[in-house]
Amino acid sequence: MTAQRRPLVAANWKMNGSLASNADWTAAFVARAASLHCDVVVCAPFPYLCTLGRSVAPAELGAQDLSERTAGAFTGDVAGEMLADVGCRWVIVGHSERRQLHGETDAVVAAKAARALQAGLRPIVCVGETLAEREAGRTQEVVRTQLAAVLGAIGEAALARGALAYEPVWAIGTGRNATPRQAQEVHAALRAQVVERDRASAAALRILYGGSVKPANAAELFSQPDIDGGLIGGASLSAADFLAICMAVGT
Ligand code: 13P
Repeated sequence: MTAQRRPLVAANWKMNGSLASNADWTAAFVARAASLHCDVVVCAPFPYLCTLGRSVAPAELGAQDLSERTAGAFTGDVAGEMLADVGCRWVIVGHSERRQLHGETDAVVAAKAARALQAGLRPIVCVGETLAEREAGRTQEVVRTQLAAVLGAIGEAALARGALAYEPVWAIGTGRNATPRQAQEVHAALRAQVVERDRASAAALRILYGGSVKPANAAELFSQPDIDGGLIGGASLSAADFLAICMAVGT
């Protein structure tokens, strides 16, 4: 990371938590959060967003998905405006678990990023290759195509109001993180792709790394010049581990 971009660390709780465990997490987090030198976002499951509200401050609240549509007859879907209404400022878009388990295409992801912005939410747009794609030498091509779809829909300045997250699918929940060098290589390529459109937006864009980030590997990952923070899954379920990761920023 560089001094010109304030680091951002986001928790993605995925489908985990309960009213009781969320309250414990929040109490433990808030007790030590004042000393953090980064922006923090907590992305919780839909049912808990309303209750969490401002209780996670100084962290901001985020959701893990939104509908690409506005309000209407779409059973089970959640509109961006609803998320903003209950206090969300951020929303994850295009997580690989949504792409893989719910068939979200690049076009759907791009439409969701656009909807997020229309609803006043800052999107955290996820890109990343599978193991087969990496082994076939297709990593750069895959993430380039994923990013191009979003840039085409919302433009680089709007993307920079949110964040981009590089999450290699093979590193998610596997305990096998990308090496700092592997991650930096992809982050640099993603930023270069934005430079092609606008240098200032590229310089402002925060690119997060996600995939088996832990207290033990966070500092080295975050020390890379184009890694501006992290999107944390499993380790974010422990407030202590998540705080330790946040504190690894700038060390
Ligand atoms: P893990 O940190 O559990 O590997 O998950 C990463 C992720 O998918 C965050 O969105």
